[in-house]
Amino acid sequence: LRIGLVGAGNVGGGVIELLRMNRDLIASRAGAPIEIVAAAARDVERAKSRHGDDLRWTTDWREIAAAEDVDVVVELMGGTGEARECLLAAIGAGKPVVTANKALLAERGDEIFARASEAGTCLMYEAAIAGAIPVVKALSESLAANRIASIVGILNGTCNYILTSMEKGEGSFEECLAKAQRLGFAEADPTLDVGGIDAAHKICLLGRLAMGTPLDFGKVIVRGIREIDSEDISFAGEMGYRVRLLAIAKRDENSGVELMVYPTLLPQGHIMAKVDGSMNAVQIASDAAGETICYGAGAGGLPTASAVVSDLIDIACGRGNVPGDAAPLCKIVPAPEVRAHSFYMRMSVADEPGVLSRVSGILAEEGISIGSVVQREGDGEEPVDLVMILHRNRFGCVLSSVERIGELGQVAGKVKVFPVETFA
Ligand code: HSE
Repeated sequence: LRIGLVGAGNVGGGVIELLRMNRDLIASRAGAPIEIVAAAARDVERAKSRHGDDLRWTTDWREIAAAEDVDVVVELMGGTGEARECLLAAIGAGKPVVTANKALLAERGDEIFARASEAGTCLMYEAAIAGAIPVVKALSESLAANRIASIVGILNGTCNYILTSMEKGEGSFEECLAKAQRLGFAEADPTLDVGGIDAAHKICLLGRLAMGTPLDFGKVIVRGIREIDSEDISFAGEMGYRVRLLAIAKRDENSGVELMVYPTLLPQGHIMAKVDGSMNAVQIASDAAGETICYGAGAGGLPTASAVVSDLIDIACGRGNVPGDAAPLCKIVPAPEVRAHSFYMRMSVADEPGVLSRVSGILAEEGISIGSVVQREGDGEEPVDLVMILHRNRFGCVLSSVERIGELGQVAGKVKVFPVETFA
């Protein structure tokens, strides 16, 4: 199988390395050698010095998509502009494509899946979701007989690394982010990681694959981790929880699907709360198989290359996937209607009479029940933190009460609210 590689960054470099490292084993599993015959990189001299000049290097991906001697195009350049043109050109030329580009598939995937379907061409994207973890194959093959009730994922290693490092007192948000960037998990633009957008791209694709949700990225609820500070982590810990950025696709009682990425409090004993550092995990609840969990490296050159090359082996063996009819099977639940098990709410309030009753009055008017209240004793002068756990409710209702509470004169700064899930 002759490969045209587009993009020689962290993951592209990993693919080159892996195909060299396990050359014979991969050839025996694929039934034939898998070789990169041409590669495109923005900086060819740099790519040559890193990966050798025995490949045919170019700066122009168009040469790769059109090359007669390229059987499969592997797109690892990222972004949603040229990467889209590259995939469409390769599909138009009848070449199977493999991509790790979750942003492109989540935001413009309808067009790309449709073109591949019309052309009868394979489109493979195991590497787009959770790096090395074989979740696309788990859902489309191993669990194919199941109706999937929910998927709960830790799908962004950078965010998990930052949250767990802050939990261990290893530094501020900015320090932990800088370390994640140095270690190579973060996106070129890390605002996609910390803003929750990268995880949202992935859950959008998982929802489509497992439950038939439309690829409507604008309807995914997305909240990143910038608002979480060490005080939240410490309050959560005191109450028996840990904070993780969860990506959730869950059927509701009306056959809609909730799609959401949110910093979420989880009981400390929950298996997803134990996912540490840059690791990813995906917990799938299905009707026949029950609960299954996949855990592993969600980022990095070689781990992500492992997923890319597994797709290449599938294509070589005739097991490549041509997208079928992608008519959506269900609706995405509108954001205000989505429910959480309970909510964590934290605000800074004046330490004076009547504040608690004003806050609880608003909650009562909105029909929100309070589960518990924590306030650290103040001196009556400085504002104090007030933390509440609110019982199960809709996001819409909770967020509108938060807005009202934020307008009270005794409340300083922003009122924070995050869901709590137990998955019990
Ligand atoms: N930047 C992502 C992460 C990896 O930190 O998990 C690629 O999706």
